[in-house]
Amino acid sequence: ITKPSRWPWPRVLAHRCGGALAPENTLAGLDVALHHRCGVEFDVMLSADGTLFVIHDETLERTTNGRGRVADTPDVVLAGLDAGVSHHPQFVGERVPRFTEMLTRCTALGLAMNIEIKPSAGMDRETAQVLAATLAQAALKEPPIVSSFSEEALAVFAEASPATPLGLLVEAVPPDWEARCRRLGAVALHVACSAVTKPLAMAVKRADLWLATYTENDPLRAVEQLGWGVDCVITDRPDLINPESLGLGA
Ligand code: G3P
Ligand code: MG
Repeated sequence: ITKPSRWPWPRVLAHRCGGALAPENTLAGLDVALHHRCGVEFDVMLSADGTLFVIHDETLERTTNGRGRVADTPDVVLAGLDAGVSHHPQFVGERVPRFTEMLTRCTALGLAMNIEIKPSAGMDRETAQVLAATLAQAALKEPPIVSSFSEEALAVFAEASPATPLGLLVEAVPPDWEARCRRLGAVALHVACSAVTKPLAMAVKRADLWLATYTENDPLRAVEQLGWGVDCVITDRPDLINPESLGLGA
C-alpha cells in the first residue's frame, strides 16, 4: 500500500454511523453524519447465512427487537428486525442494514467509511473473507479504511484485499504496536481515547502511521488530540465534534 502523506478521510467520523444522535449502525445515522460533514464508522458481522450485516453486538437484544445471536439468525429474520425503537420511538421501523445497503447509501451520499470487522466468536477468517469479496465486487472509487480488533481478521482481509488501507484497533496500547501494524501492513493505529497521550501521538507520527482515537465525546479533548497530531477522532457527538466546530473547514 502506498500511504498518502495526509489522512485522506474526514478528520471526524461519527461512531456507529450517527453517534448518539441516531440508532447505532443504521441508515438513519448517515443523515446525521452528512449534516455534520463527518464520515462514518460502523461494524460488520456475519449472519447465519454468511451475509454481512451492520451491527455491533454478537446478540440482538440491546439494539433490536430480536433475540439470540446474530451468527445464528438467518438473513430473512435479521432484515425484518427493528433497530430503531430501542433508541427512540421516533426511529420505529429503522432496520439492521445489510452491509451492501450501507455501501450503496454511503456511496450515494459521498460519505467516507471506516468499516470495522466485528467477527462473532470464531468467525474472524470468514468475516474478513466475505468483506473482501463484497468490497471487490463493489469496486468503490474512494477506498474505505478497514479496521478491527481482530488481527486474524485483518491479516486474512489484507491477503484478499491488499490495496485497502487497514487500521489496527486497540484499547490499551500494546508495547509492540508498531511491529503489529507493520506485520499487518496497517497504515493506522486506532486507539481508545482514554489511552491516547501526546508522547504516543508523537511516536505514531515518527513511525509514519496515522492515529485515530475513539470514542471521544469531549470537544476540548478532541481539539487537544488533534493538536498532538491525531489524524482522526471517532465520536458519538458529531453535533459537538465535527470539522466545522474544530475549525478544520468543511
Ligand atoms: O472503531 C472504533 C470503535 O467503534 C471501536 O469500538 O466497540 O464501538 O466497535 P466499538
Ligand atoms: Mg466499531
